[in-house]
Amino acid sequence: MLKPSRNYQYAILVCCMFFGMRTSAQESTKLTVRLDQPGHVSSPMLYGLMTEEINYSYDGGIYAELIRNRSFKDNNKNPDYWSLIKSVADSSAIALDSKHPVNEALTECLRFNLATDGKNTGLANDGFWGIPVFPSTSYQGSFYAMTDGSNAGAITVEIESTDGKSMLATANVTGVSGVWKKFTFNLTTAAAVTPTADTRFVIRPLAKGTYWFTLVSLFPPTYQNTANGNRRDIMQLLASMSPKFLRLPGGNYLEGNMFSTRYNWKKTLGPIDERPGHQGTWGYRSSDGMGLLEYLEWCEDLNMEPLLAVFAGYTLNRDYVEAGPFLKPYVDEALEEIEYVTGDTTTKYGKERARDGHPAPFPLHYVEVGNEDGFDMSGSYEGRFTQFYDAIRSKYPNLHIISTTGGKDFLGQRFPLTKRIPDVMDEHYYRNAFDMESDADHYDNYDRNGPKIFVGEWATREGKPTPNFNSALGDGAWMTGMERNSDIVVMECSAPLFVNVNPGGMQWESDLIGYNTLTSYGSPSYYAQQMFSNYHGDNVVSMIGEGIPVQVQKLNHKDSLSKVTPKTYPSLFYVTTRDTKTGRLYIKVVNAGVAAKEVIFDLKGISSVKSNGTVVVMKAEKPEDTNSITEPEKITPAVSTYKGFKKTFTFSFPKYSITVLQIDTQK
Ligand code: AHR
Repeated sequence: MLKPSRNYQYAILVCCMFFGMRTSAQESTKLTVRLDQPGHVSSPMLYGLMTEEINYSYDGGIYAELIRNRSFKDNNKNPDYWSLIKSVADSSAIALDSKHPVNEALTECLRFNLATDGKNTGLANDGFWGIPVFPSTSYQGSFYAMTDGSNAGAITVEIESTDGKSMLATANVTGVSGVWKKFTFNLTTAAAVTPTADTRFVIRPLAKGTYWFTLVSLFPPTYQNTANGNRRDIMQLLASMSPKFLRLPGGNYLEGNMFSTRYNWKKTLGPIDERPGHQGTWGYRSSDGMGLLEYLEWCEDLNMEPLLAVFAGYTLNRDYVEAGPFLKPYVDEALEEIEYVTGDTTTKYGKERARDGHPAPFPLHYVEVGNEDGFDMSGSYEGRFTQFYDAIRSKYPNLHIISTTGGKDFLGQRFPLTKRIPDVMDEHYYRNAFDMESDADHYDNYDRNGPKIFVGEWATREGKPTPNFNSALGDGAWMTGMERNSDIVVMECSAPLFVNVNPGGMQWESDLIGYNTLTSYGSPSYYAQQMFSNYHGDNVVSMIGEGIPVQVQKLNHKDSLSKVTPKTYPSLFYVTTRDTKTGRLYIKVVNAGVAAKEVIFDLKGISSVKSNGTVVVMKAEKPEDTNSITEPEKITPAVSTYKGFKKTFTFSFPKYSITVLQIDTQK
C-alpha cells in the first residue's frame, strides 16, 4: 500500500514559508458555526457495526466457545486441533469416524481407542490458540460420548498447561454407555491461578476400551451469562461505541463461495446439537454457533437493531440465479427470514423463534438485498433486486430496502438500477488515508432527491492487524463528511470489525478491534468511531471555514478504489451537530496536519454559551503510532473539562489529532 510521508508534507510547508510563498497555513484559521441557520437533520441511525465470519470473528472471536473443531468437521482427513497425549509404549489411537452419527447435524465423531487403564493417556484440544484461564472462573462443558466397554468407569476432564505439568481445573464425568448421551460438567479454576493461554483441554477416560466423542464444548462466563453466548471483553468494547445497528451476516460470508456454502439461516437455528455448520468464505469452517438468533440477541444485548442482509441468489464464484421462477425459493426464504425476526408467535417463523427461546419479535427497519452485486458481471442484479424488492415491499411495506449497486461508487456505477429505486444504496470504500482525507467532501454535493446512502463497508487501511493513527485520521476526516451529510448518509459501519491477532488469525488487514485468547483492544480507528458515535447531536449545523491549512499529496494513489487524485487538499476537517432538545453542540475537528493549529471559533445565532464544557482529544506523536495487543491503550481519547467557551473563542488543535468540543448553548 502506498504510504504518504507526513515529513514530506512538513518539508514542503517549510520550503513554502522560507521562500515567502503564501500558503493558507499562514492565514489565521476561522470556523464560523452558523447556528443562525436552520441546519438539517442528522440520522439517528448513523453509527453502527458490520459483522461477518472473517479473521476468526465468531469461532475464536466474539462467540465464546473455547473448543476448536468441536464437531470434528474442520477437516475430513484429520482431527485438526485434537491430539493424543500418550507415552511411546502406549498403543492408544484416535481417528475420525463417520459411521456413528448422533443425528443429521452431528455426523462426525472421534474414535478413541484407549489401550491401557489409568490417567496417563488423554485426548487434547488446543482451543483457539489455547484455552483462556483466569482465576476463580467457572467453565461450563459438555460432550456427547459413548463406549464399547460394559463398565466404562469415569472420564476425567481437565484444563491443563500445554506441557501437562500443571492441572488448572478438573472434573469427572460418569455413566458413559454403549449409546450416545450428552454429558455436562463444570470446571472451576482456583483463586491463585495466573491468567494464561498456554493451556489445553484434555479428556481422559480411566478404563481401557473404545470411546467416541463429538460436540465437545466448553464455555467461559459469557456476556450477561447467556448460554451459547458472547465473550465479555469484546462485547464491552462494542457497548462503549453505542452502536445503533448491526449489519449481518456479511459481507462475503452472506454470499458463500458457492450455492452450497451460502449463508443458510435455517441451518443456524435451534440447539447447537442440530446445527451442521458450513464452510465459510475466508478459508475456514464455521460452527454456526453464532446463528441467526444469536446475532439478534447480540443486537438486543447492545440495544442496537439488526440490519438484515438476505441472500440474493449470487455467490462469490459468480454463479447466480436469473430472476424468475428459479429465484423464487430464495425470495421466499428471505421473506421467511424477515418473519423469523419480526413475526409474532402466531406466524410460522415467529412461532419457531419462540420455540428457539425468544417469543418477542425483534425490531427491524432495514433489509439489504445481497452484497456487492456489482461484482456480478452478468448484470443479473437488476432483475434479482426487482424480484426481491417487489416481494418484500408487498409483504412488509414499511421496511427500507437497500440495494448493493446503483450508487456513484465504483460498483454502483457499473449497474445503475432503473426498474426499482431502492430506498437506500450501500456503498463501500476501502482506501488509504490520503484518499479518505482528500475525498472527505464526497457527499457534499450528492443528489438529495435520490435514494439515501448506507456506507455499509469502509475503512482507511493503513496498519495491520489493526489500523494505526494515520488510518484514524483518514477515518476521522471521512466521518466528518458522512456526519455533515447525514441527511442522506443515513447509516455507516466500518469493516471488518474484528481480527484475532494470533498467528494465522487474520485474512484481512486493518480491522477495528483486535484480540487474542486472553484480551482485546481497540485500534485508534475504533476510538475515532467511538468518539463520533458517542458525541452526536440530531441536527447538522452549517460551518464556514476560512484559512484552512492544506496538505500536499506526494504520489498518485493507484491502489485506491476511487479516482481521487488532487495535488493539495485540506488538513483540517470539521463538522458540528447540535442536540435540539438541550442546545448542546458537538464540534468535531480532525487535524491531520504536521503542526498544531489554532482556530478562532465564531458561534453565530446563540444568546448564551456556558463557559464550562468538555473536550475529548485523541492524538499521536507520529502517524504510525498505534495500539496493539501488547500496548492496547497507547492511544485513547482523553476527556477533560474546559473552562473557556464563549461566543467567540480560540482553540488549539494538536498535530495529528481528533477532537470533540462539547459546548452547552442557548439560542
Ligand atoms: O470486509 C471484507 C470484505 O470486503 C467483505 O466481506 C466484502 O463485502 C468486501 O469486499
